[in-house]
Amino acid sequence: MIETLRDARSRTLKLIDGLSHEQLMGPRLDIVNPMRWEVGHVAWFQEYWFLRHYLREPMIRGDADRLYDSARVAHETRWDLPLPTMVQTRDYMNEVLSRVVDRINSTELTEKANYFGRLVTFHEDMHGEALTYTRQTLAYPPPDLGITPGSDGSGSRERSGPLAEDAEVPGGKFVLGATPDLPFVFDNEKWAHVVEVTPFHIARAPVTNAEFAQFVESAGYQLPVYWDQEGWNWRCRAGADRPVYWERAQGGGFKIRRYDSLLPLPEYQPVIHVNAYEAEAYCRWAGRRLPTEAEWELAACGPPEEGRKPLFPWGDDPPTAARTNLDGKYAGCVDVSEMPEGDSPFGCRQMIGNVWEWTSTNLKPYPGFVIDPYKEYSEPWFHSPHRVLRGGCWATRSRLLRNTWRNFYPPDRRDVFAGFRTCR
Ligand SMILES: [Fe+2]
Repeated sequence: MIETLRDARSRTLKLIDGLSHEQLMGPRLDIVNPMRWEVGHVAWFQEYWFLRHYLREPMIRGDADRLYDSARVAHETRWDLPLPTMVQTRDYMNEVLSRVVDRINSTELTEKANYFGRLVTFHEDMHGEALTYTRQTLAYPPPDLGITPGSDGSGSRERSGPLAEDAEVPGGKFVLGATPDLPFVFDNEKWAHVVEVTPFHIARAPVTNAEFAQFVESAGYQLPVYWDQEGWNWRCRAGADRPVYWERAQGGGFKIRRYDSLLPLPEYQPVIHVNAYEAEAYCRWAGRRLPTEAEWELAACGPPEEGRKPLFPWGDDPPTAARTNLDGKYAGCVDVSEMPEGDSPFGCRQMIGNVWEWTSTNLKPYPGFVIDPYKEYSEPWFHSPHRVLRGGCWATRSRLLRNTWRNFYPPDRRDVFAGFRTCR
């Protein structure tokens, strides 16, 4: 566990590396946090849950709750706080982590210690992904994650190009959600329950940039017929006429902004940074639809069998760089046809990694929902229009993910690493 805590922290620090004092505060936007606040919050969360809640230790900084408790400190006020300097923030981060490591070294690891150790690690991992997309949002230079493709020795990437085929998925009874034998589960995955799924076809790969460009070129953003009312309202408010980081290229086609650079649009990579409304408009144009989360999970798990579901599309073996694009290993997306070793039993590719995939399902509690000690994780969002996304993206940490993992964002978020696959 100590190694994992240190690994999460080293990623956090790499993600703010090379940024100026001004960049670490950044502009006031609804969709980002000031990075200097965000990394202090990550340390505060670790202190709060591991040292204070679990071990009943006193606070390290008397002002920490007033600065860093995300449930108490309103988002728009985070730029106005008397935040410690970056040096002081790093001292606080180091102090918290070294106390946690010390306590783990000096006591027996109970089930509770494992639980809170995982909770704080996964929380840090999720903020790591947010810091990564914040650098994209703010057009900062790319983070230097220092990871080279295939560095886990698991083989090379194969195939590139499109994969425009459907997989046929027979319906039936399917057990949706996490089973209690898993070592750690956030509350929104609790618990596995039977749902009935009717037969459907689902794309073997996410929608590519080339495919999405056809929608844009067909006046997809101009014709209300492709949008539902809510989506059209968003499109008009935002003045959107293409994905947020696309720019028209001289002589036709598009370029895409990646961090601080404008690059040719990679045709066969999945479209990314589109919101649920844009995804659904594309689907209507293409005569398709978004999968429900039950359809998505069934397509990832394979035909229902007796006993436990596989953790991943390829089975229970851990993710490798040959099966998935996770952990920042490729520093961005890869073509949708790559990594056939990670296919699901139905032949669906890259269901784990590369891009998060929007589903048509609104975030609701599963039957049997039991709220976690960290009450603010899911429950506040059950009555808002948050959508479920599945599968993780290139920047997501592999230790977090499995087929049953539910992520959720408001349907208008275009800054997150989300794309989609379609079904019919
Ligand atoms: Fe947080």
